[in-house]
Amino acid sequence: MATPPVCSYEGSDYQKRFWDEGDRAYEDRVEAIALRRLLPHGGPRLLELGAGAGRNTPRYVGFEHVVLVDYSRTQLEQAQQRLGAGPRYTYVAADIYRLPFAPSAFPAATMVRTLHHMADPLAALRQTRRSMSS
Ligand SMILES: C[S@@+](CC[C@H](N)C(=O)[O-])C[C@H]1O[C@@H](n2cnc3c(N)ncnc32)[C@H](O)[C@@H]1O
Repeated sequence: MATPPVCSYEGSDYQKRFWDEGDRAYEDRVEAIALRRLLPHGGPRLLELGAGAGRNTPRYVGFEHVVLVDYSRTQLEQAQQRLGAGPRYTYVAADIYRLPFAPSAFPAATMVRTLHHMADPLAALRQTRRSMSS
């Protein structure tokens, strides 16, 4: 099945340029508040789609395991440098349109600053929903 084109951040210095040096502390804090209010307090697994360099990942404190998905390996490498290679995190290079997970595998999922990159957002949301248990 053909899938829509991907807006990959392979090789991008997005985290450094946009966040670390971009004077965006206010936006970053607003996201922290939104995530705290919108997410369940915790659970066994959280799926983070379009995780990038893992900027938001440390905020998922109540979840035992976080699976970070990004199309770009270099973004996942940056995330691993930030978060470490410990057992709490799994780094998966995959396309959101073809998620390699069993149906209903995750009780919670996030997709931050990524949906607007999707040529077919409905297909991306359908894949997300399929991976979620509730
Ligand atoms: C703007 S960045 C956001 C990163 C992170 N969520 C944040 O807020 O800091 C968007 C990310 O989505 C990833 N992405 C875009 N399309 C994707 C797809 N089809 N499958 C997986 N990842 C994708 C890009 O590689 C990039 O790392």
